[in-house]
Amino acid sequence: MQASIPDRNKRGQSRILDNLPGLLTLRLLHYRRSAIFLDHNKNKTCQCSDNATLLRPVMASKVYSAAVVGVDAFEVEVEVHTGYGDHGKVAVVGLPDTAVRESKDRVLSAITNSALRWPRGKITVNLAPATVRKEGPSFDLPIAIGMLKINDDNRIPDLSPYCLAGELALSGELRPVRGVLAIALEAKKRGREILIVPKLNAEEAAPVQGLAAYGAGSLTEVVNFLRGESVLQPVAGQPNFVPGKIDDDFAEVHGQQHVKRAVEVAAAGSHNLLMIGPPGSGKSMIAKRLPTILPPITMAEAIETTKIHSICGILNGSHQFVTERPFRSPHHTVSDAGLLGGSAQPTPGEVSLAHNGVLFLDELPEFHRSTLEVLRQPLEDGKVTISRAAGSMTFPASFMLVAAMNPCPCGHYGNPRRECRCSPSQVQRYRSRLSGPLLDRIDIHIEVPAIEMNELTSTVEGEGSAAIRDRVRRARLVQQKRFAREGSIRNNGQMTTRLLKKYCRLDSEGIELIRKAVTNLNLSARAYDRILKVARTIADLAGADQIAAEHLGEAVQYRTLDRGLW
Ligand SMILES: Nc1ncnc2c1ncn2[C@@H]1O[C@H](COP(=O)(O)OP(=O)(O)O)[C@@H](O)[C@H]1O
Ligand SMILES: [Mg+2]
Repeated sequence: MQASIPDRNKRGQSRILDNLPGLLTLRLLHYRRSAIFLDHNKNKTCQCSDNATLLRPVMASKVYSAAVVGVDAFEVEVEVHTGYGDHGKVAVVGLPDTAVRESKDRVLSAITNSALRWPRGKITVNLAPATVRKEGPSFDLPIAIGMLKINDDNRIPDLSPYCLAGELALSGELRPVRGVLAIALEAKKRGREILIVPKLNAEEAAPVQGLAAYGAGSLTEVVNFLRGESVLQPVAGQPNFVPGKIDDDFAEVHGQQHVKRAVEVAAAGSHNLLMIGPPGSGKSMIAKRLPTILPPITMAEAIETTKIHSICGILNGSHQFVTERPFRSPHHTVSDAGLLGGSAQPTPGEVSLAHNGVLFLDELPEFHRSTLEVLRQPLEDGKVTISRAAGSMTFPASFMLVAAMNPCPCGHYGNPRRECRCSPSQVQRYRSRLSGPLLDRIDIHIEVPAIEMNELTSTVEGEGSAAIRDRVRRARLVQQKRFAREGSIRNNGQMTTRLLKKYCRLDSEGIELIRKAVTNLNLSARAYDRILKVARTIADLAGADQIAAEHLGEAVQYRTLDRGLW
């Protein structure tokens, strides 16, 4: 169909003049489509076939989502705009990574397969703020809803109370995404009222108060929910904190009383622990039982740890919220990046996954030396900073280090019943794989001797985890009160030099004992602080306000490596 230009031109001009403030919201598609339009010759006719596209309001929508950076999320406005251009052509702008750029193909297929319609013309998707890189497929859902909102036929309401995140399958189903807890916390902070995420992640948002979280299975379910045509199952208020059944118990560990005591002291003050003993003496067995005597994880700690596990994508349908202290035991072939975090994009490593829990390094000297060296920063600071080309990122990494090692390569050095076949230089080389600065950060060293046959076959059960846990809990309560005004310090293991001076005052007998220990036992000066910290915990376990000589005496025994006795 053809139309004469003057009429059309007049109509366009008058609408522009009538609506000057809204000028920017009008698009003169016609200018582009027909050069003839600029010619005011009355005899020429317009070449355009589609009259309706001459002037129409900007077709745009805005949906809120969030992007995860490090362990936190920040709000992202997903703007969708349609304009003149090829129908079905989509441009995604706003510093998207490959996964985000690819989302357009998933989104269009998902919309088609959900029997819905996307708007006509070329679609531009902008992810604002454009200065921060957007990663991963979690923007599929907000982009799809933004497209659908443009078509009034889809009857999508105002989206400002909502925050949406989710990956779309081509069929329109929703797939789980990473970082839902961080996204939920950000949505709450920005005043959003409703969060819609994939069903398989929804539980992660449970601890965020004042935000209605819903899990959806598909794009159709989300659209129907937004239209008010169907309901979604809301996420229950609080995660279930009943710990799962713990199969292991300290009652199964026969003998080794002094080792169990050292582990109890370590757990009570959150001290790093190194066990040294021949193969089969029960080191791994004891380490595995450590979580059974640690105090239950608190809600604040659980949120911190869940955020990290969530962005690593290791939470699944039946386990969406961390309700127990993590126990991580990476193999000794782990890379620096695997332990600390990293790869091309900074992601958390084992030290961060163990945040608020235990990092167990079995066969410590077998780890690459460089890998052990990089442990020093998180051990000191409780966090780890990773620098990559893509940027630098800091992740929390406050964990209790538990390590185990043989005394020599064959494992039988010092074993009265088995001969050690290693030469002195081999033994020396083996031990020197552990650097002084690393050992310096381990408060308790304990020897685990080979267990006697009669002890192993004994039917008498040792003390169970419940009784030990009770003592640990009481000692931690004392520390909680002590450090209530000391910022992020929660236990004796984290005490700084200033706090040591404040809380570990010795009486004259204690000063004399430690002086003798340092000189007679050939203790290094760096062992001094460690002894004071551990003695404080031993006193706390005994319910004593003042560190006494007996507490110091026990703490001195936990410095095997400094004493050079093995
Ligand atoms: N003190 C112990 N009480 C009961 N069983 C033990 C003890 N020590 C070792 N065992 C048995 O020996 C096995 C090997 O112990 P493990 O902890 O792997 O030794 P390590 O790590 O020191 O080489 C354990 O699974 C357990 O069955
Ligand atoms: Mg072992």
